[in-house]
Amino acid sequence: MKLNRKKSDQNFFSELDPSPRLLMGPGPVDVYPRVLRAMSVPMLGQFDPEFTNYMNEVMELYRQVYRTRNHWTLLVNGTARAGIEACLGSLVAPGDSVLVPRFGRFGHLLTEISGRVGGEVSNIDTEWGGVFPVEQIADEVKRVRPKVLALVHGDTSTTMAQPLAGLAEACRETGTLIFVDATATLGGIPLNVDDWGLDAVASGLQKCMSGPPGSAPVTLSERAAEAISRRKHIEAGIRPEGYRGAEGPPVSSNYFDFGMLMDYWSPRRLNHHTESTSMLYAARECARVVLEEGLEAGFERHAQASRALRAGLTAMGLELFGDPENRIVSVTGVKIPNACGNGEKVRREMLQDFGIEIGTSFGHLAGKIWRIGTMGNVCRMPNILRCLASLEAVLRRNGYSVPPNSGVDAAYLAYAEAAG
Ligand SMILES: Cc1ncc(COP(=O)(O)O)c(C=O)c1O
Repeated sequence: MKLNRKKSDQNFFSELDPSPRLLMGPGPVDVYPRVLRAMSVPMLGQFDPEFTNYMNEVMELYRQVYRTRNHWTLLVNGTARAGIEACLGSLVAPGDSVLVPRFGRFGHLLTEISGRVGGEVSNIDTEWGGVFPVEQIADEVKRVRPKVLALVHGDTSTTMAQPLAGLAEACRETGTLIFVDATATLGGIPLNVDDWGLDAVASGLQKCMSGPPGSAPVTLSERAAEAISRRKHIEAGIRPEGYRGAEGPPVSSNYFDFGMLMDYWSPRRLNHHTESTSMLYAARECARVVLEEGLEAGFERHAQASRALRAGLTAMGLELFGDPENRIVSVTGVKIPNACGNGEKVRREMLQDFGIEIGTSFGHLAGKIWRIGTMGNVCRMPNILRCLASLEAVLRRNGYSVPPNSGVDAAYLAYAEAAG
């Protein structure tokens, strides 16, 4: 049967046909082709046993990615920020004390979210481009005795990674729960949730997991799950007979109420939102790709790509940003040379002339550094060489002289050395 399309002079625009790009900014990055294919398979009803089985598989896959035995390992619909809001909004009740060490823009985000849900937030700050010694955070935890310590693992705004091992000892002493934003690190560098004693960790797909933005894998320890269950309230229209809510104050958001999400992801399948079917397929396939490669092999591929990129940038006479000891492998900060002003013309030409996206940064680093991502599917030699060759050409056109082929040669060498 033919669709009865009404002719009109309305403009329906053209079919989607995005230009080919190599996404080497701080995320989103190019998606694994298998993940794109997974997103195009048919819908299933949200209570179809086949679909709920996929939900269970997703829980099991992300336990492996997060290196945890946590039962409550599931997806929050929405970008990484949705996972962060669900964790902090469910763990932090009005008046609870929260400590947020800030070493970049995303520490400010955790501060804001914790404050918006009524937390009494205190901060310690360090200059952007550095991180905290673990002992400094531990001492502050002992002093403040917060209910929640919320911190970023890898802050893409400054390209720095905060060491996390060793924080749990201090936090056990004070009964503090540790929340970690691992958006920029999951799948890219080791994140040992159980070994490091982390209680709630949230991430996204669009960085080292090389999926589309829109699903946030989260894991919760038993301690975190207990804290959440003390605030558990079931929505009025679906309460079972004899229902009595928990003593604690209800979570202020319905969508991001972890107690309700847990009911939905448990065998009860108590209805909450309609799970984003295609995003669940995507998240499932991202984890399968990452685990099939092997976590350690994936970390090494990320490390190798960033070593080669950094060797190339340095050979081109550019200066890398931040404390060399604590740079994240997934994104490299590079200082914008004076000849290139705020760096926007170079970024534009990289995009328009070479189809390569690189990023700038935020706050006082905006226009001061470029951020070049080496995440997920992007971490391959041809991409690194393409980026360096293109950057060399664009820099030269913009008045910054680069020794010919220096970047590409140094990156080649870095890859050759790694291959032995
Ligand atoms: C460290 C970090 N946290 C949180 C976010 C927010 O993620 P989303 O944009 O997926 O909500 C980002 C995004 O770049 C990030 O880099």
